[in-house]
Amino acid sequence: MQTENEDEDEASCEEYVARSDFTGSSTDQLSFSRGDILLVHAKPSSEWWWAELQGVIGYVPASYMSQDAAGEEDPSIEDPWQDEEYFGNYGTLRLHLEMLSDKSRTEAYRQVILNNSASLSSKRVMDLGCGTGIISLFCVQLARPSMVYAVEASSMAEYTRQLVKQNGYDEVVTVLQGRAEEIELPEQVDVLVSEWMGNCLLFEFMVESVLLARDRWLRDGGTMWPSSAALTFVPCQADSYYAEKMAFWERPYGLDFTPLQPLAQQEFFTKPKFSHIIEPCDCLAAPCDVISLDMYTLQVGDLEEMKGQFHFCVEKSAVFHGFTAWFTVCFESLEAGGATHKKNSDAPFSLQANTLEADIVHARQACKCMRRRLDQWNNCPPEKSCLETFPMWR
Ligand SMILES: C[S@@+](CC[C@H](N)C(=O)[O-])C[C@H]1O[C@@H](n2cnc3c(N)ncnc32)[C@H](O)[C@@H]1O
Repeated sequence: MQTENEDEDEASCEEYVARSDFTGSSTDQLSFSRGDILLVHAKPSSEWWWAELQGVIGYVPASYMSQDAAGEEDPSIEDPWQDEEYFGNYGTLRLHLEMLSDKSRTEAYRQVILNNSASLSSKRVMDLGCGTGIISLFCVQLARPSMVYAVEASSMAEYTRQLVKQNGYDEVVTVLQGRAEEIELPEQVDVLVSEWMGNCLLFEFMVESVLLARDRWLRDGGTMWPSSAALTFVPCQADSYYAEKMAFWERPYGLDFTPLQPLAQQEFFTKPKFSHIIEPCDCLAAPCDVISLDMYTLQVGDLEEMKGQFHFCVEKSAVFHGFTAWFTVCFESLEAGGATHKKNSDAPFSLQANTLEADIVHARQACKCMRRRLDQWNNCPPEKSCLETFPMWR
């Protein structure tokens, strides 16, 4: 028999469907399979919810839960909220300050333009997602293109127009505010340049907009900058970070704080760590490119499911804490016989390398939730070894 309180409790519970398998990493986490129906009792954080499955209660990662009956969202439904949030973020200065302060990123584009300044002369350029217009401004500052179409969907475009004028480049640079998918240019362009890469190369999924613009606005034989891109993985240890966040709780001030270790594990080791610098000695094998994109031949349809593989020959005996990932992009030279310019997203090292192997599937629809969030990753428990789904931004 249920008491009145239990009735109330049940009424406040919500049913969710698991969008993929999950294996709990501690006794307070539930394991479940895709399609399981869970009763969510409470949402103590945006990442971990308190839920029930077949009478067993425990934490579940919120990103694995869907209220859609099939456990998946209808891919045909556009969610304007996410574009609103995404372009809303780019309408403020925080991200632009971060990007422009990233010297190696911004300098890489400047250098490409400088190295190709002679060939850029009289070329028509499209700068897709121009933000503050920095790449467009470099084009005119360092070369003599006939026209630069600077396309930006966020409200930053209004300021970009002012920056272009302020620098005296308004005769060459035309700022167009709107989504690249929707704007109209008066002509096709010779060069399509864009800084579309996100974390792990594909986050934000702006690459799709770039491909759509390429197919519409790049003339036959035109140049894509970047021309190719690769995502690289290496298995690594993170002993000092692990010690800093886990060993700390062993005996601080002579007291036993080990009951906090599961919490520490959950808090510090269930999300990817950004800007983590690894030393060559932390790498357990030689790095491996898991996804390679040719920006001339890649099709929008290919983005639905990108398959990669890795096979690492582990040469070192160490604790495997996870993978470090970075990307590399190449810019084809416009100059006859010119070298291709390569930009690494801070590739940590190079290292000659028992085996660690897996197939990687980057599937768009499975990751449809949280398409374009810029400020958080959802949880992806690092210890999972079979199917791992990462929420993807668009
Ligand atoms: C990574 S930022 C790069 C900004 C600038 N190019 C730079 O290097 O500083 C990407 C920019 O592209 C814009 N953007 C993303 N998708 C777009 C689209 N489909 N159409 C137009 N602008 C877009 C964003 O609003 C953002 O300002």
